[in-house]
Amino acid sequence: MHSMHEDRIHEDIEKVLVPSAAIAERVRALAQSIGEDYSHADGRLTVVPVMTGSLLFAADLVRALPQRRLRIQLTTVSSYGGKATATRGSAIVGALPKHLEGHHVLIVDDILDSGGTLRLLRQEFESRGAASVRACVLLRKKIPSALGTPCEYVGFDIGDEFVVGYGLDYDDLYRNLPYVGTLRQEAR
Ligand code: IMP
Ligand code: MG
Repeated sequence: MHSMHEDRIHEDIEKVLVPSAAIAERVRALAQSIGEDYSHADGRLTVVPVMTGSLLFAADLVRALPQRRLRIQLTTVSSYGGKATATRGSAIVGALPKHLEGHHVLIVDDILDSGGTLRLLRQEFESRGAASVRACVLLRKKIPSALGTPCEYVGFDIGDEFVVGYGLDYDDLYRNLPYVGTLRQEAR
C-alpha cells in the first residue's frame, strides 16, 4: 500500500490547514453534488470563477464535472489591494460575463470572508436575468459575516485566520501552493 501523498511545506508557511489530498477529495464530493443538482441545466450552466483566487479551485472543480455541458465566464472582483489583509468593500473590475439570461449561474470563489463579493455578484447576475444563481466556495471563515452570507456549496469551514495557497494570495504570492495554510509572521 502507498501512504497518502504528503505535501512538502514551503518555509514561509506556519501550518497547513487543508492538505492537498483533502482538497482533492472535497472537490470530488462538491462536483458530485453539483453535477446532480444541475442535471436539469445541461447546456445552460454557466460557471463564473472569481479571479484570481479561484483559478486553481475552479479548474479542478470543472474537470471533476466532465458529464455536464457548461460554459466558463471569468469575472474579477477587487476586495483587497496589495498587502492589505482586511476587507475594504468590493467592486467588479473589467468586463461582465455575457449572455447570462436564462442561464443557471454558479459563482466559484476561493473564500467567503466579509461576503461582499458574493452579495455583489449574486445581485448583479440575478438582475441580468439568470435563471438561478448559486455560489460555491472552497473555504468559509467561521465569522458572522461569512456564515450569514448565503452560499450553497462550501468546501471547508476554517477559523478566522489569514490563509494562503491553492489560489489564495498574500501580495499575489503563494497562489501556487497545492495546500491551504497560514503564513509565518516573518513572511508578512
Ligand atoms: P469577501 O468579499 O470579503 O467575502 O472576500 C472574498 C475575497 O477576499 C476572496 O476572494 C479573497 O480574494 C480575499 N480573502 C479573504 N480572506 C482571505 C484570506 O484569508 N487569504 C487570502 N485572501 C482572502
Ligand atoms: Mg479573490
